[in-house]
Amino acid sequence: MSIKINLNKDTKKNDNIVFIGDIKDFKAFELTGDQKKYIEDQFKNDKSIVTINQYNSFIYFINFTDKIVKNKKEIAGKIGSKLVSIVDSYKQTSVSIIETNSNFEVLYAFIEGIVLGNYKFIKYYKDIKSKKSSLNSINIISSSVNKNNIDELQNILKAVYITRDLANEPFSGLNAIQLADRIIELGKKSGFKVTVFDKEKIAERKMGGLLAVNKGSEEPPTFSIMEWKPDNAKNSKPIILVGKGIVFDTGGYSIKPTKNSMDMMKFDMAGAAAVIGTMYAVSKNKLPLHIIALIPATDNAVDAKSYVPGDVIKMHNGLFVEVLNTDAEGRLILADALSYAQKDDPELVIDLATLTGSAAVALGTEAAVVMGTADDTIFSKLEKSGEDVYERVVKFPFWDEYKEMLKSNIADIKNIGGREAGAVTAGKFLEYFTEYPWIHIDIAGPAMLSNKSSYRTVGGSGYGVRLLYDFLKNYES
Ligand code: BES
Ligand code: ZN
Ligand code: ZN
Repeated sequence: MSIKINLNKDTKKNDNIVFIGDIKDFKAFELTGDQKKYIEDQFKNDKSIVTINQYNSFIYFINFTDKIVKNKKEIAGKIGSKLVSIVDSYKQTSVSIIETNSNFEVLYAFIEGIVLGNYKFIKYYKDIKSKKSSLNSINIISSSVNKNNIDELQNILKAVYITRDLANEPFSGLNAIQLADRIIELGKKSGFKVTVFDKEKIAERKMGGLLAVNKGSEEPPTFSIMEWKPDNAKNSKPIILVGKGIVFDTGGYSIKPTKNSMDMMKFDMAGAAAVIGTMYAVSKNKLPLHIIALIPATDNAVDAKSYVPGDVIKMHNGLFVEVLNTDAEGRLILADALSYAQKDDPELVIDLATLTGSAAVALGTEAAVVMGTADDTIFSKLEKSGEDVYERVVKFPFWDEYKEMLKSNIADIKNIGGREAGAVTAGKFLEYFTEYPWIHIDIAGPAMLSNKSSYRTVGGSGYGVRLLYDFLKNYES
């Protein structure tokens, strides 16, 4: 279902053409005076796409002027996704994009918008064929991009598709074992190494958080490790990514309290999905960095065997945690992964998690909440990547006063703070399990969309892949 992108193949007769540039430079055929005037008038009225129907083919003139200064790339991506829905409505299967503006960034973002906007999750329809998006190939005729750019972009977009597919997959098709199997399969395809710990190995390593959350489950937990270690790695100590892999979150005995709040909880592994997609893009594009990724995975179920409020669990790093809410399960499995990460002496650790409703309430779907102990310069770079790829992040305070809220009467800490500052106290909880520079990204808001928003399609958005990829590509030790 993904789109094949070719470069600089000649246009054929009856090709549908997308033209970005000055109309003077349009050479595919002679436009009549009337047509020119029509296009110019429409552009003056701020129409972003003007369609001319030329017998058996369509020409789409894209209005992308140099007047636009702010959020250029995002606007280009939005027009790309608008174009693809028009193309889809005409059931066209291919387009040739002719670009004469020599603007790499805009063309790149435009193609991203087309491909990401064309995504659909349709495996659960009886008649899949009729549900498919029609567009399946793009030919680009432009001097702004070369083959390397296009190959890199295709791998990133494929990674976003993989992430969306994983997030959209319901629990009935993706338990912890199936998630690990998908990781193994992707490792074979893209070249990263995979190790999966089964329940026994998890128990040997005393991952008490992951085991406690898993107690009520029909299926055993998994702990997957991915590694990309090229010979030309710039970093001597690894960067470690950690993704929350709760394949379904009922809340456990502290069952999801409000109406419909459980409906979307198949997405509670969106952090894991984004980390997996990032590893795919990083290894396919052979980034010169040593990167390890950890995915603790289980569902959080209600059963006679489930952990219950008041239980005390001993974590991987030896700390005792009093569980006062079984719905605050993400931090328990992440905590074990974060303290496990210590053994590789990482230079930087980044976790992604749909961790708190509080983060989603604060920022909605527009941005993720970030916090942690890494240097300000690292956070600034993450913020810059966020602006650039438009997967934005907002840094929250990380003051030690918030730790007070995690005090327990009978154990080292408890697993909930209080009603206030829920995203921050969740981060503060995780901090107890980190002894290295660390960034926590709470993606509860942007990971999942109830409605399509231009190239961000409904359901799993794939948020995090383009952010992390851009951050890692620009990373300096
Ligand atoms: N998976 C949820 C967080 C979540 C909520 C993600 C809404 C996406 C949308 C997490 O496990 C959870 O339930 N967190 C609780 C923590 C609370 C009990 C301290 C929350 O945010 O309500
Ligand atoms: Zn929960
Ligand atoms: Zn959860």
